[in-house]
Amino acid sequence: MAILAPSLLAADYSRLGEMVGAVEAAGAQWLHLDVMDGHFVPNISFGPGLVADLRRVSGLFFDVHLMISEPMAYIDAFAAAGADLISFHWEAAGEPGPVLDKIHGLGLKAGISIKPGTDWRCLEPYLRKLDLVLVMSVEPGFGGQSFMEPMLEKVAGLKRKKAAAGHSYHIQIDGGINRETAPKAAAAGAEVLVAGTAVFGDADIAAAVQYFTGL
Ligand code: DX5
Ligand code: ZN
Repeated sequence: MAILAPSLLAADYSRLGEMVGAVEAAGAQWLHLDVMDGHFVPNISFGPGLVADLRRVSGLFFDVHLMISEPMAYIDAFAAAGADLISFHWEAAGEPGPVLDKIHGLGLKAGISIKPGTDWRCLEPYLRKLDLVLVMSVEPGFGGQSFMEPMLEKVAGLKRKKAAAGHSYHIQIDGGINRETAPKAAAAGAEVLVAGTAVFGDADIAAAVQYFTGL
């Protein structure tokens, strides 16, 4: 069974508490929180204040996806806000090791995200330490883009590596996940499905959550 991480980026920001409550009541396990700084990606979303407020009303596993240039500078703030897992971009961090150690030192799970043009093998020295590898299946920055099918090969490669080496990271896929692409991603080995538009853009949010969690 897949873990669904609905992406709040696609929710109606005037009704965030209600939207989070709806996916939680429908059986979603995680909540994917996309943090964008207008520098690493050409869009701006929200920061730790919003995460802290949602933490007061939700028991979901908070999966914070940092699309920011200086992840190290914001780990403390997102940990204090109530993140359960923080992932940051390979392409943003100078040396990822200290960022991973910082996240783990605060008692949180840690992940690294890779953009579509990045080869997953760059992560090999870190796989042993990772709780999650996030494979971006669109260019980060915006919801509602089309799934990039060649990313399935990365998912399959990470799955093979995980089995061969006995690693324990979750394989997460993010971008363009819908009822057509999610089964392909799950078949390739994706264990955590991020879906924004396909959940919060559906007139029946509960039915959408039930569909994806049942994969
Ligand atoms: C994009 C974000 C995604 C986004 C996915 O940079 O990382 O999490 O919300 O949106 P959909 O599911 O609409 O492609
Ligand atoms: Zn994301």
